[in-house]
Amino acid sequence: MSQLFDIEIICKTEKDTRNLAINFAKLLPHNSSIALVGDLGTGKTTFVGGLAHGLGISDGVRSPSFNILNIYSSHVSLLHIDAYRLDGSEQATETLMLNDFLVPPYYLVVEWPERLYNFLETCTFKVMFSMNNDFSRTICIRPTH
Ligand SMILES: Nc1ncnc2c1ncn2[C@@H]1O[C@H](COP(=O)(O)OP(=O)(O)OP(=O)(O)O)[C@@H](O)[C@H]1O
Ligand SMILES: [Mg+2]
Repeated sequence: MSQLFDIEIICKTEKDTRNLAINFAKLLPHNSSIALVGDLGTGKTTFVGGLAHGLGISDGVRSPSFNILNIYSSHVSLLHIDAYRLDGSEQATETLMLNDFLVPPYYLVVEWPERLYNFLETCTFKVMFSMNNDFSRTICIRPTH
């Protein structure tokens, strides 16, 4: 099953990015943790919007930059972290009290995962975003084990 996710795809529009995430969400196992790796403006939050939609969550996804953590709930919960303002230290990560919020079935998705302590080492999927010269995005989805 993990080969299903081992893909690299060019998304020409925001809608393409969103649709990719919708399809990914439908195949995603419960309790997945997903690192969204990519520069500013490459489509990470757009992808989270598609994930939420694909998981049947009707809340609109917002950029959580100000509160760092947003939680969207329906029959499952989607925790959305934007770690841009964190410093990667264990202490900063502990203040989020993540373990208290990870009630199964959950999906945890993190923008700027390199700034959340130990996350890249433990996540179950990495999604990498890069911008091409024509402003399309190349998106790679890889299982981590
Ligand atoms: N495949 C795409 N092609 C063109 N534009 C896109 C694509 N995906 C997203 N965008 C656009 O890029 C802009 C930035 O997207 P988004 O906010 O999702 O990026 P981000 O990676 O979350 O940025 P940040 O690092 O600031 O959080 C938005 O205007 C969005 O519509
Ligand atoms: Mg974002």
